[in-house]
Amino acid sequence: MPASEIKDINLAGLGKQRIEWAEGDMPVLRMIRERFRKEQPLKGLRLAVCAHITSETANLATTLAAAGGDCLLIASNPLSTQDDVAAALVKEHGLSVYAIKGEDVATYSKHVRIALDHKPHLIIDDGSDLVATLLQERQNQIKDIIGTTEETTTGITRLIAMEKDNQLTFPAISVNDAQTKHMFDNRYGTGQSTLDGVIRATNRLVAGRNLVVLGYGWCGKGCAMRARGLGANVIVTEVNPLRAIEAVMDGFRVMPIAEAAALGDIFITVTGNRHVIDGPHFAKMRDGAIVCNSGHFDLELNLVALEEQSTGKREVRPLMEEFTLKSGNRVYVLAQGRLVNLSCAEGHPASVMDMSFANQALAVEYLVKHKGKLKAGVNKLPEEVDQEIATLKLKSLGMHIDQLTPEMNEYINSWKSGT
Ligand code: ADE
Repeated sequence: MPASEIKDINLAGLGKQRIEWAEGDMPVLRMIRERFRKEQPLKGLRLAVCAHITSETANLATTLAAAGGDCLLIASNPLSTQDDVAAALVKEHGLSVYAIKGEDVATYSKHVRIALDHKPHLIIDDGSDLVATLLQERQNQIKDIIGTTEETTTGITRLIAMEKDNQLTFPAISVNDAQTKHMFDNRYGTGQSTLDGVIRATNRLVAGRNLVVLGYGWCGKGCAMRARGLGANVIVTEVNPLRAIEAVMDGFRVMPIAEAAALGDIFITVTGNRHVIDGPHFAKMRDGAIVCNSGHFDLELNLVALEEQSTGKREVRPLMEEFTLKSGNRVYVLAQGRLVNLSCAEGHPASVMDMSFANQALAVEYLVKHKGKLKAGVNKLPEEVDQEIATLKLKSLGMHIDQLTPEMNEYINSWKSGT
């Protein structure tokens, strides 16, 4: 058995079943895996994968292993690991996994260092903790790095900051910028899995409730759309005027959080920014308000400020804490402010992760094929990769679309004919 740190190897049987169930809805990744098995594009290369250890990620890991890669996996979040999946990856697939649901921050940090001890040539990062640690503590390993891929909006913002600071001296691929990633994973994946997390954690009816979505990026759009579908009265908060207009025209009420705080029954943060729900906002909330975060890091809610104005807190359901404020009002926080969709539910469904992880797998292959030729810093995946993934996904859904006729093709490529 490979070196690992997981909760319980005896959970492997259940994990195996869940990995197979996810695989059934990941046809694009399966096709890539078959090609990789024949072509062995990662032969002889070591990979460190920092990701949510889910049944979908397991299918990415087995794809990279089928390509000849020597993969070690760590959790990208202390609460998102599916312990049965981690066990199956170790027992059934022989992969090294360092991930335990509920691990503390010290263990999480230890696992980041273990991943770097694997001496990776390639990094698959989710939030950029691996790359940030590499740059700060393992400069001597940078010469061996071919590149990194990053699939979160948060991680890419961080990579851009590293690049501006002249620290990112190897290529990174911004998988999140692929259309087949953010249009589906961020919107439909986050939309469904976040509401799933809120519902599994609380078992509250959403219909008729005021649900506040903070941030109207792709993830915010998905959450707002799905909350409306469940009958919520959705309020959106934004700092970007364009996105705010978009939310208005999509039919949502838009207002500052200082006003929304007093109206919401349920709050979901998806901004990628810090303390978007702050002390004064908690103070204004209705008795019984439910607050959670679906952005990558656990800093969107200022829980220190909430605690300071509380007279007590207790766990009232799994991953749900009740804070009693000095006013007597109670505020319920889900998953300690960590990703509610992965902590309280199972993350995005396999069908969208199929496209996200197809992008990850093809991005890693692209890095290897273009070794030494890509610029240091953040690179996009070529448009053709997006087109290929979209085409394969449509085909797997049994759908056919129209093709441009020669006449249409000629028209859109010329400028001469008008009215
Ligand atoms: N991010 C969001 N959902 C996910 C999932 N199911 N697996 C891995 N990463 C995810």
